[in-house]
Amino acid sequence: MGSTKDLAGPSLPHALLISFPGQGHVNPLLRLGKRLASKGLLVTFSAPETVGRDMRKANSNISGEPTPYGDGMIRFEFFDDEFPHSENGDDVDFYIDHLKRVGSRKVAEMVKEYEKQGRPVCCLIHNPFIPWVSDVAESLGISNAMLWVQSCASFSCYYHYYNKSLPFPSESEPETDVQLPCMPLLKYDEIPSFLHPSSPLPFLARAILGQFKNLSKPFCILMDTFQELEGEVLEYMCKFCPIRTVGPLFKDPEKLAGSSEVRGDFVKVDDCIEWLDSKPPASVVYISFGSIAVLKQEQVDEIAEGLLSSGLNFLWSMKPPSNWAAFKPAVLPDGFLERAGERGRVVQWCPQERVLAHPSVACFVTHCGWNSSMEALTIGTPTIAFPQWGDQVTNAKYSVDVFKTGLRLCRGEAEDRLIPREEIEKCLVEATSGPTAAKIRENASKWKKKAEEAVEDGGSSDRNMQRFVNEILHRPSNGKVEKHLSNGK
Ligand code: UDX
Repeated sequence: MGSTKDLAGPSLPHALLISFPGQGHVNPLLRLGKRLASKGLLVTFSAPETVGRDMRKANSNISGEPTPYGDGMIRFEFFDDEFPHSENGDDVDFYIDHLKRVGSRKVAEMVKEYEKQGRPVCCLIHNPFIPWVSDVAESLGISNAMLWVQSCASFSCYYHYYNKSLPFPSESEPETDVQLPCMPLLKYDEIPSFLHPSSPLPFLARAILGQFKNLSKPFCILMDTFQELEGEVLEYMCKFCPIRTVGPLFKDPEKLAGSSEVRGDFVKVDDCIEWLDSKPPASVVYISFGSIAVLKQEQVDEIAEGLLSSGLNFLWSMKPPSNWAAFKPAVLPDGFLERAGERGRVVQWCPQERVLAHPSVACFVTHCGWNSSMEALTIGTPTIAFPQWGDQVTNAKYSVDVFKTGLRLCRGEAEDRLIPREEIEKCLVEATSGPTAAKIRENASKWKKKAEEAVEDGGSSDRNMQRFVNEILHRPSNGKVEKHLSNGK
């Protein structure tokens, strides 16, 4: 842990947010942090220093000093996870266990340090993969909440799998479809893929399911979704877990009020808005596969050719490889950019919410990560589903068959199929012109309106957020931190 700065400024209730070091985890937790700050809290956002370093490089406003945000303040303090990256490279499984050991100690130290400074933490909030934060909170007698960063439908899949309450695909019956209460029938390749016996990433199932082992510890489970979007499954799951919907967190009313922008990108955004400004309305396809998924070289080649033959403009966000990337990232085919000319722009990272909201953007080819899915739905941008693994395959099912805001281009990694350029071209054309395009755009606008209503004053998510703030302010602490301190610990 770096030295904890003395937190000057008015005495505000203090929430400490701990994030797993993934972009898809940091973004929603930071958005929650901004919402809590805007409601008058001092928020300290924390994560391992490896991502802290990237965040500071890529964004201004990532500071240890409290930055005013709405009625409150936000600040950042990262901790050293002591992980020997050079020796252990991309071993996520090993990292998750290591982080538990080191992180438990570091977070407890941080809490005690704030207590000494007269800034006691009233609530510890974390996201999935780090369920040990609940144990730290419990041992120190502090309230604890968890922000689930996927859909309620995915939550329900993991919940029922963990509790073995319904049949899932098994080694002997890998093609079992799954019928969960208040959800459409999920084909065996539409459940979060880590739960399938053929998943090449079983440690990610272990990492997520660890959260379900500790599910009784957080006093509430916040979700970046909204009542009107997943009403039935939410109502059902609320019988078992104290779920509060607070999404779409990305829709931040404070932003409109002109608070300074605080972003958690790991990579500096490339400017592409001027380029979008130069394009006619609804003429650009935006493509991104999020922060982790990496496509095979042959698939990138097919997408590139499909784009060129579609005749559409395109903006392609191709992030540099993450710390965990085990294989070489794909490259664009030779001469691709020259052939595309002014029709195409490729960037490493872009301000995705601004891009999706740009009038030139017609549709979004997405891997269907939950953050991207919520952003597109909230902004009213139709999608082309190109899921890879995990909850992406479940999100793709929902966007195509339930929310009806997208077209499907593939079923995910398990399908093990190269999607050819002709299919890609056909799907791009269908999603951007003609009756199907008009229909999905109309559905997307309908969800946009509902999402906006949910976060407006008095909307379902706004009421839940206010209730959460009231709860963390009034939940009693059992004084264990003070006892630790007076015992000289
Ligand atoms: C991971 C998992 O892969 C995903 O399945 C899960 O639902 C959440 O955690 P990730 O793959 O990174 O997330 O995808 P996603 O959830 O879509 O998050 C990506 C975030 O990066 C989004 O908030 C998006 O706005 C942002 N982004 C992406 C940018 O800001 N710029 C870009 O160029 C690309």
